[in-house]
Amino acid sequence: MKKSTNTNWLLYCRPGFEQDCAQEALRQAMQQKPIIGIEQPAIVADSGYVAVALNEQKPSYRELIFARQLIRLHHTIAALPERDRLTPILAAIATLPGSFGALWLEAPDTNDGKLLSTFTRRFQPLLESALREQGRLQDDPQNTHSKLPRLHIFFPDKSSVLIGTSDPHNSAATIMGIMRQLMPAEAPSRSTMKLAEAIEVFMDRSEQTRLLRQGMTAVDLGAAPGGWTWQMVKRGIRVTAVDNGPMKGVLAKHPLVEHLKQDGFKYAPRKAVDWLVCDMVEKPSKVAKLIEEWFAAGWCKHAIFNLKLPMKQRVVALDSALGGIRTRLDEEGINYKMIAKQLYHDREEITVFLTKTKK
Ligand SMILES: C[S@@+](CC[C@H](N)C(=O)[O-])C[C@H]1O[C@@H](n2cnc3c(N)ncnc32)[C@H](O)[C@@H]1O
Repeated sequence: MKKSTNTNWLLYCRPGFEQDCAQEALRQAMQQKPIIGIEQPAIVADSGYVAVALNEQKPSYRELIFARQLIRLHHTIAALPERDRLTPILAAIATLPGSFGALWLEAPDTNDGKLLSTFTRRFQPLLESALREQGRLQDDPQNTHSKLPRLHIFFPDKSSVLIGTSDPHNSAATIMGIMRQLMPAEAPSRSTMKLAEAIEVFMDRSEQTRLLRQGMTAVDLGAAPGGWTWQMVKRGIRVTAVDNGPMKGVLAKHPLVEHLKQDGFKYAPRKAVDWLVCDMVEKPSKVAKLIEEWFAAGWCKHAIFNLKLPMKQRVVALDSALGGIRTRLDEEGINYKMIAKQLYHDREEITVFLTKTKK
């Protein structure tokens, strides 16, 4: 069992984005305080996770785009005995203070990781009952109301384990940091799950009720075949769907949908709307500029949009696109909240929520 003197953080991410995830976490930490005397993270490509060592800096989960989950890593056990994995894991947990609001056994979101699900399902009750006997696990499996840290037992494979805790106020509230969505039978495209997830991840229940109300209006740029529009109309929101392509299924002739075959970069609404949603495949800088224009002109109050990622220098490209929006809104004197995340249903892209706030 190896215990490190620096604070180690374990971050889950979409496989293939480990470099971006680590780069972003280190950069955020450097903005707090210079990082002294630690090694660069050893990144395993396509593993779906990274471990990052810091001194006193504390990453902010909400401000990280590529991290699906943020866990304070306490122990790494590299060689678990096949016959008795429980004893060394319990011994490591025994060194941690206090009790836990939830126990989450997790594995990487990779094909190999998925093969571990039977193993983690079998192992969970063993560990759970041992921790309950010791009075270290409270009876709130979803940890919904608890302020207690969650205990994460992460198996990169069957013979090694990373043991850490997450702060419910500085982490994702779902196992593996993944908020899966069901594909609604009526929706015309799988993209609908991206917007459904964005709404769940970016807005709490009260914001959803306040910001997505029947009778509101929206513009959907790059709307076809209609998955995002469908999320809006199912909430009773009237949508102007802009796309040269056809709207499909129930949206082809929906009373709440007006379909305009126009260029989304040239379209201007006759009247301001509540929402702008945008899923056009374009350079992040071009989409960011368009979003800036909409907010500066007062054409919308809230937006959810996708930024498609370039092959290289993704963190830099995002910095520049999101930084451009911040600068412009600041210049315009607009108060706002902006959150960006690579969601579970995002591939080579990220999703951004931008909303005007009161002064
Ligand atoms: C990823 S798809 C959108 C999928 C849609 N959000 C859904 O849920 O079904 C991108 C769409 O953007 C449209 N598009 C790309 N450039 C556009 C432009 N300049 N103006 C309007 N639509 C555009 C494409 O025709 C395509 O239908």
